[in-house]
Amino acid sequence: MKRAVGRTGRSLMPIGLGCMGLTGVYNAPLEPAAATRLLHDAIDLGVEHFDTAEIYGLTRNEAVLGEAFHDRRSKVFIATKWGPQFDAATGRRLGVDGTAANCRKSVEGSLKRLRTDVIDLYYLHRVDPKTPIEESVGAMAELVKEGKIRMIGLSEPSADTLRKAARVATISAVQSEYSIFTRDVEKGPLEAMKEVGASLVAYSPVGRGMLTGAMRKDEKPAGEDFRASAVPRFNDDNYAANLALVEEIKSIAGEIGGKPAQIALAWVLGRSPNIHVIPGTTKLENLRTNIDTANVRLSPGQVQRLDALAARVAGQRYTPLGMEAVNR
Ligand code: ATR
Repeated sequence: MKRAVGRTGRSLMPIGLGCMGLTGVYNAPLEPAAATRLLHDAIDLGVEHFDTAEIYGLTRNEAVLGEAFHDRRSKVFIATKWGPQFDAATGRRLGVDGTAANCRKSVEGSLKRLRTDVIDLYYLHRVDPKTPIEESVGAMAELVKEGKIRMIGLSEPSADTLRKAARVATISAVQSEYSIFTRDVEKGPLEAMKEVGASLVAYSPVGRGMLTGAMRKDEKPAGEDFRASAVPRFNDDNYAANLALVEEIKSIAGEIGGKPAQIALAWVLGRSPNIHVIPGTTKLENLRTNIDTANVRLSPGQVQRLDALAARVAGQRYTPLGMEAVNR
């Protein structure tokens, strides 16, 4: 069953594909041909919603989508994001630029790399504390008028920022982290989304892999893996403590004959009808598993058991620096 995106009249399959991993983040980047194949297979399996960002792969991620989609544009809904700045040579992050001038510059680059003349959903990737939200959103509203983007979104805004933004233009979607382990949006933003009519696009819905039951105690993320440097939940003793909580998800999967990733996705989708999920995967088999969640039903008792887990999670979802950039 499709779900609406905001109040635009557009509906989508609520299980999309987070594309960040195609250019490497928890894993090595895919070979270009393999990435294209996975994206084409996803379309064939009925996926419509594909999520990327200017900063993923330091702009290379958008180019991967452009290569795969330019000759079948009408079959896909493309979401991308702007704002975070980086040093192209070193990849070092340089804060967020939410100014109208940067919005205009970014959209031109994204359109070119995506090889399209319109972006379906354009998000401010993080709120810029130095630029009034009215300016960032006003700039995106201009792009809607010009036909360069179809819908406006924000990523990880606070409830107050979302309300302010919605006074400037229609905000169709908010993309924030939401999963059995990460329920910050329940402390205000989700309510504000319902008020302003925005959908929630839940990222990291399988907890960056943690909730899929596929991660082993003796395979703690290390080295270049983003989770090793930026996600304390995967560090030190937190990792084993959190994996122990995943046992409950595995038990429920056993009870219904499903996979833990499906339990994780079904839990998020079951919270509210205005939610979409964009699990990230680089593997066709996992993509199939995630899509098959559409048939998974959790009993009220199982939902309650899952509800109890978040309070026991060890470690934050980002380092202190990352936490400063969310809910603002
Ligand atoms: P993000 O939004 O940050 O991409 P996520 O969707 O919660 O986070 O999790 C993505 C991670 O979960 C990836 O490491 C992905 O690994 P693969 O690329 O190897 O698939 C993993 N993942 C996603 N779906 C999975 C599944 N069904 N089974 C096992 N691992 C899965």
